[in-house]
Amino acid sequence: MNYHVLTLFPEMIEQGLGTSILGRAQKSGRITLDAVNIRDYSEDKHMRVDDYPYGGGAGMVMQAEPVYRAYQAVEQKIGHKPRVIYLTPQGRLFDQTMVEELAMEEDLVFLCGHYEGIDERVLEEVVTDYVSIGDYVLTGGELAAMVMIDAISRFVPGVLGSEESAQFESLQDNLLEYPHYSRPEIWRGRAVPEVLLSGDHKKIEAWRREQSVARTKERRPDLMEKQYTVTAAYFSPTEGTKRAAEMLAGELSQTPKYIELTRRRIRRQHVKFGSHDLLIAAAPVYGGQLPGVEGLFENLHGENTPCIVMAAYGNRHYDDTLAQMAKILTQQGFICIGGIAPIIPHIYSDKLGTGRPDGEDAKIFRQFALKIRRRLEDHDFTPAELPGNPSPEPKPMKGAPKFWDGTKCTHCQTCALKCPVGAIDADTMQIREDLCIHCMRCAKVCPAEARSYDASQVKAYLEGNYMARREVECFL
Ligand code: ADE
Repeated sequence: MNYHVLTLFPEMIEQGLGTSILGRAQKSGRITLDAVNIRDYSEDKHMRVDDYPYGGGAGMVMQAEPVYRAYQAVEQKIGHKPRVIYLTPQGRLFDQTMVEELAMEEDLVFLCGHYEGIDERVLEEVVTDYVSIGDYVLTGGELAAMVMIDAISRFVPGVLGSEESAQFESLQDNLLEYPHYSRPEIWRGRAVPEVLLSGDHKKIEAWRREQSVARTKERRPDLMEKQYTVTAAYFSPTEGTKRAAEMLAGELSQTPKYIELTRRRIRRQHVKFGSHDLLIAAAPVYGGQLPGVEGLFENLHGENTPCIVMAAYGNRHYDDTLAQMAKILTQQGFICIGGIAPIIPHIYSDKLGTGRPDGEDAKIFRQFALKIRRRLEDHDFTPAELPGNPSPEPKPMKGAPKFWDGTKCTHCQTCALKCPVGAIDADTMQIREDLCIHCMRCAKVCPAEARSYDASQVKAYLEGNYMARREVECFL
């Protein structure tokens, strides 16, 4: 992360951020700090940077040109237009979601005002974000910039040691930290809570979570309003969708819940969601549509519950799947505020979607999750605009020819039990073609490798046409 601070007091920035963790981070090169003196860009022979305000009134105004030239020097140096944050009590309140969002940038420019402010015209020209660190007025933007740099740097990889980073996401779920204790066990008659001495890590974790919730309710009830329970409900016969759903859920909450819709018994259970839930509904794309599973999301019931639809596909296309999912979930009481189409390994080719979602995808997931978090915190449930036909003609899927080798089969019945649509007769081992969705889960789960399929034809077609890497698409 490279910080560039446009200021009249560069030494204040350098000194303020030169010691402790941020000093160390600068030495190790994890962050760089460039304090640019706006005065160096004055055109005035006395190096003046301020003047009287047009229309009269008290105080002086920082002139546009020196600020602009200082900014241009940074832009030239880094070779692209960066995000430029103007520190002002008129800006959006700085919070943890903004911290994490800004931490994803490579360069950040902070513009610090003094006197009565900066000529509006240069702000209009260069500023991308107006940020306030609290509802009070400071003498200048420098302290605010330093506060932001400190908080953002904690999210730059390698800035915190592993010990420090273990506790680093206490605010991610809009919860306050639990209380901490150290030796002695009894201090002036006050004992450490019993549970912490028990050595039972599960119990300790549960107690800490309880304390966090109780504390947040008592001390910061406003944060409770921003809290959402994240549940990912996924249909994932070969586990690609599951992995993508888990990655996204992990970006949205430290403690997500899961509903495994791949299992018939789980699909039959009714689950109700409220307005402080967030549902991630995830399914793979089969032939450009939702798999033909009767009532896939039917027992999930929302009450104006925000929802993200995820259509995971093997690098060909998701076509109508997102729109189809959104239609179904909207009928079930959800508001689809977002959609995402990640790439996962293709079931018919080991060359398509291999290793996806990967590190690059993870970054896109994170950016998307941060936008969703912001929307939830703002209670902005505007439905997402999702591409595709919400009611496409059902496409009959032929699927690749499947084989069962009776000499290998041990009749363990795993395939029949795990078939997501109950298409395998546990006695005869026959597959009912009218029910089969060609998900190939049977071949994947068979411990004796008695089940297989021949995807050579479709594989050749896919690899001939869809090898170019597709990128994750997100919709809000
Ligand atoms: N400059 C002056 N007051 C400020 C505040 N509260 N936040 C950010 N920048 C400021």
